Amino acid sequence: MLVTSKEMLKKSMEEKFAIGAFNINNMEFVQAIMDAAASQNSPVILQTSAGAIKYARIPYLKKMIEAGLEEHDIPVVLHLDHGADFEICKMCVDNGYTSVMIDASKYDFEKNVEMTKKVVDYAHEHGVVVEAEIGTLAGVEDDVNVADDDAKYTNPEQAQEFVEKTGCDSLAIAIGTSHGAYKFKGEAKLRFDILEQVKSLIPNTPIVLHGASTVIPEYVELCKKYGAKLPGAKGVPDEILHEASTRGVSKINVDTDLRLAMTAGARQTFVESPEVFDPRTYLGVGRSYIRETVEHKMRDVFGCAGKA
Ligand code: G3H
Ligand code: 13P
Ligand code: ZN
Repeated sequence: MLVTSKEMLKKSMEEKFAIGAFNINNMEFVQAIMDAAASQNSPVILQTSAGAIKYARIPYLKKMIEAGLEEHDIPVVLHLDHGADFEICKMCVDNGYTSVMIDASKYDFEKNVEMTKKVVDYAHEHGVVVEAEIGTLAGVEDDVNVADDDAKYTNPEQAQEFVEKTGCDSLAIAIGTSHGAYKFKGEAKLRFDILEQVKSLIPNTPIVLHGASTVIPEYVELCKKYGAKLPGAKGVPDEILHEASTRGVSKINVDTDLRLAMTAGARQTFVESPEVFDPRTYLGVGRSYIRETVEHKMRDVFGCAGKA
């Protein structure tokens, strides 16, 4: 069933696990993620960025999820990832999304509050929940390049004030992750001390971790073996994500890992079977790698398997 994330995030806080939120762009991703969630009896959040909407278009994204729900009886959220302004959030609310993110984190506190509040008011009138963000992730976030040393961790007191002023339903915080395949130059490290302070000040607000791909070494190696250039690719190890899921992170965002899994499958097929030109062959291998990736995260890392 298509649901808002309200109940599943509440349960995740009570039972100390995290829900996986996976970015979708085409049918293979939707099938792989929904099949994985059904096999693990897990709730799942499917999220689309502005780029995904531009690429696949809302009616297709929605209908593919509806098709998955004809096959599988699991709670699914359709979520807008990194909505840049009121207009895109409104468009998604009006088109049946059950959750939207307004990401005004690049603006100052007051403007972030103002933009978030406007989306919250509209979304809540329509029964839709809102994720917001405070603090800046290192690396690349949408069109904005934030240099590593400019990275601003979330200030816990500000986070509390922000939630009180906006009434947002969940909050993305910056504790050391970043988007993409190059998250750490040295050792992977998250600021669990900040997470702890945030949770003590706003214990009832579900916390979201963006930029949380592991950059799974096996898939990076497969990609490289078959010609990809990914020098220094590094993500958040499973153990750290598992710790986050037990210490108050309720939603963990994953896109890069699925892109790498699909790319590994396609590259492997092209090189090992150069006679192949049927897209179903290489997309099919990529789809099976995505499914394995999502099942692993749900079962072994996030703790959401069996929580549907
Ligand atoms: O947070 C960003 C997501 O990975 C989406 O990326 O804007 O290229 O679709 P995208
Ligand atoms: P990754 O690039 O680490 O997969 O992060 C995805 C994300 O945060 C989507 O909003
Ligand atoms: Zn993100």
